[in-house]
Amino acid sequence: MFRFLEKELELLKESSLYRQLPGPLEEFNGSRAIINGQEVLLFSSNNYLGMSHHPRVKAATLEAVERWGTGSGGSRLTTGNFVLHRQLEERIARFKSTEDAIVFSSGYLANLGVISALVGQGDLVLSDELNHASIIDGCRLSRATVKVFRHKDVAHLKDILLAERNSYRRCLIVTDGVFSMDGDIAPLPQLLQLAEEFQSLLMVDDAHATGVLGKRGAGTVEHFGLENKNIIQVGTLSKALGSEGGYVAGNVILIDYLRNRARSFIFSTALSPPIVAAAIAALDVLEEELYLLDQLHANVRQFYKGLKELGFEVLPTESAIIPLMVGESHRTLALSSALAEKGVFVPAIRPPTVPEGTSRLRITVMATHKPEDIQRALEAFLWAGKRVGLI
Ligand SMILES: Cc1ncc(COP(=O)(O)O)c(C=O)c1O
Repeated sequence: MFRFLEKELELLKESSLYRQLPGPLEEFNGSRAIINGQEVLLFSSNNYLGMSHHPRVKAATLEAVERWGTGSGGSRLTTGNFVLHRQLEERIARFKSTEDAIVFSSGYLANLGVISALVGQGDLVLSDELNHASIIDGCRLSRATVKVFRHKDVAHLKDILLAERNSYRRCLIVTDGVFSMDGDIAPLPQLLQLAEEFQSLLMVDDAHATGVLGKRGAGTVEHFGLENKNIIQVGTLSKALGSEGGYVAGNVILIDYLRNRARSFIFSTALSPPIVAAAIAALDVLEEELYLLDQLHANVRQFYKGLKELGFEVLPTESAIIPLMVGESHRTLALSSALAEKGVFVPAIRPPTVPEGTSRLRITVMATHKPEDIQRALEAFLWAGKRVGLI
């Protein structure tokens, strides 16, 4: 019965694109784990600030378990609407300097919900070619016409707007804030200018910018000092904030509309209260312990400089993501395995997650890495890079 699927899996194996779950984490403290009985340093987590193990975040989560139990038991519009959810939304709106916010069960669901609620047949979405899969899926679900502009190419975007904008009712320009596999930043001020010129909506997904960019860690809008209140800011609580869930922050009417129209909000159980409490506590910690941001960026600089000095091809980064380019999938896998042998965990990233021929290691740095962790990792990279003939 499933022979046709087996054949497809065989093809994936032949092209080094077969995916397997890595050895499960047997123990975990944020930046270190035990996998297959071996202690490893993680240089691939999105838990950029180590919030998942911050004592205040853990304490708030435990307190919420005691007070509220575990699951929420219903969607927000039925029985799953707790005071904590609203507190979190208000807290996000304050953090993002927006009028309001709405929380979803994940960042993936936030993107599906907001895009499919805002545009539909007869509308146009203009999407950066390197946008995250959840944006792509949101666009598909919406049934709007989707045109892809070259990565960060504002002139290309303008050409499409000039040629197409008048043939559609609404237009949405959508971009990652920090691109998840490349670590670079979207040209938000220029995108905003075009959105205004062509009466279009602008949405930015700050999954990898939140807790990383801007003087308070509020993301790309803060990074560029933009005052515009119409930008739709999407994000996730699952990365630098060490919790789970996604959100949309923006204009009060927009948020009210999403409560009524975003199907992934309406038809999914509300986040569990302890996870919401964790996110609120992480936002409080971020506000009060801003040195975490400085620590993160200092660690990124140390690691980036070290990799460059070793002779690796690393793309310039302004975020916590350092892409180490390899090219072929099998060699990327070999590099990742060699690093694992030396106790450094960085999974290989291959197509379809990244374009063909651009397989890479997506290295991420955390505020909680110690300088000696980075030194140890660089020694492992030197050994592994030589072993696979990259340096
Ligand atoms: C840019 C981007 N958007 C959205 C998501 C989805 O967020 P979540 O993991 O909370 O579903 C991710 C990460 O997975 C991401 O990298």
